[in-house]
Amino acid sequence: MIETVTELSRLRAIVAGWKREGLRVGFVPTMGNLHAGHYSLVTLARRHADRVVSSVFVNPTQFGPNEDFTRYPRTPEADTTGLEQAGCDVLWLPTVESMYPFGVELAANVHVPGVSALLEGAHRPGHFDGVCTVVTRLFNQVQPDMAAFGRKDYQQLAVIRQMVADLAFPIEIVGGEIVREGDGLAMSSRNQYLTAETRPQAATIRRVLLGMRDASLAGTPRAKVEADGVAQLQAAGFHVDYAVVRLPDLGEPGEGEAGARVALVAAKLGSTRLIDNIEF
Ligand code: PAJ
Repeated sequence: MIETVTELSRLRAIVAGWKREGLRVGFVPTMGNLHAGHYSLVTLARRHADRVVSSVFVNPTQFGPNEDFTRYPRTPEADTTGLEQAGCDVLWLPTVESMYPFGVELAANVHVPGVSALLEGAHRPGHFDGVCTVVTRLFNQVQPDMAAFGRKDYQQLAVIRQMVADLAFPIEIVGGEIVREGDGLAMSSRNQYLTAETRPQAATIRRVLLGMRDASLAGTPRAKVEADGVAQLQAAGFHVDYAVVRLPDLGEPGEGEAGARVALVAAKLGSTRLIDNIEF
């Protein structure tokens, strides 16, 4: 049976008990409204740890003023059942007050320079400060040995890895594969904002990413790959924030430089902002 915990003292007692038994603790932070992508991270954490804690916390500090914090879908009953079925031992449900005891305005802030400023960071100012700030708190609350993050949020995973290395968190970070719908759309809590009309169009992102990969591998210049990606998304009705090909660390590849790449897209269909990526 999964245990839902809302008191930090109780969470600490459970985790301390596991550690006394020599058990390895895995952690999967989420904002709830869970789907197969989240549950795959619980499965992954189970493979790397003896016990798994998941958190559900819709973190106000990572949403911009005009973003969807208040309407972000909240489905606590379904999340609890799903987490239990996925093999999660403890569901940690912090309140805003316990997460930010001095209030959001006076909260200590964790800022990871460099990688936070690119792509998502440029389009969502302060977003990764909010993510790093809340993930630091969650790490200190749960004190896991490992934590799982999805490759769906490729840049978030990169920022977290940088933060963990820089601040010397004794936590192994493991990236999980992107889980997709049948037509290739990456699963996301935000997919449910899509309408009957826009939902089929949303799968265009996956097709465009596959095309960007194939064109890059065929030697097409990066500027053309990116411009074609933007044009195809616009033709399908998207407002495009970016469609780029980058090095695995999100730096810009030099002309003619060989090696691994990741193509990343962020684009809006109506008011629904979607992100996806492909590594090659
Ligand atoms: P959330 O969007 O709920 O995502 C929680 C975790 O699930 C993240 O690591 C994310 O990358 C992963 N995930 C989401 N969709 C996925 C998919 N289709 N396939 C694989 N993994 C997927 O990311 C956050 O919450 C927050 O920023 C958080 C880290 C919890 C901090 O508030």
